[in-house]
Amino acid sequence: MHPRILIFAGSVRAGSFNISLAQAARKTLAESGAETTMISLGDYPLPIVDEDLKSQKGVPDNAVRLARLLAGHDGLFIASPEYNSSIPPLLKNTIDWVSLVPRDIKPFAGLTVALGAASNGALGGIRGLYHLRSVLMNVGALVISEQVSISRAASAYGEDGMPTDERQRTMLDRTCRSLLELTAVGRARR
Ligand SMILES: Cc1cc2nc3c(=O)[nH]c(=O)nc-3n(C[C@H](O)[C@H](O)[C@H](O)COP(=O)(O)O)c2cc1C
Repeated sequence: MHPRILIFAGSVRAGSFNISLAQAARKTLAESGAETTMISLGDYPLPIVDEDLKSQKGVPDNAVRLARLLAGHDGLFIASPEYNSSIPPLLKNTIDWVSLVPRDIKPFAGLTVALGAASNGALGGIRGLYHLRSVLMNVGALVISEQVSISRAASAYGEDGMPTDERQRTMLDRTCRSLLELTAVGRARR
């Protein structure tokens, strides 16, 4: 059975470097035999998490839709920007809402997750991934050790949409390979 991998970026910006990374990851994963689904968080708009709103109206439909989508996949690749060394609010807000869905939906338990970041800075946004990793582990996901960061992202991608730098490409390949290997382990816990 082909592993089902969901892919999204933590940015909806036009020309987002992280959407480019998500697309490169999709290509790499698909070439390795994964069944991939790529979405935009822009198609799942959510208000800022508010417990009073949740009490009055319940968890928004878009969070429930996303949770069901996650529950229907074996693995997840997130390409996230780094904002002030941490998680961008779009992504944190999305994870927080999804963590509040009814307990019969299990979006994160046993979900194997790989992380990537892209930034035009020299560090490629890698500092934010430690915070993202921590949040995802808290909600029960299995976050793999390998990760990929794309520094100097404005000029990092070639015409084929892949990173041109060999080191970055190797990081992407290793991260995707490990995601697929460990998804087989995580699937037993889904
Ligand atoms: C509020 C804010 C804080 C940022 N902080 C960082 C940072 O700590 N490190 C970094 O490399 N880039 C930082 N940036 C720049 C982002 O990396 C840049 O906007 C990047 O293009 C966002 O990702 P995207 O291209 O996928 O939209 C920040 C941008 C914003 C808006």
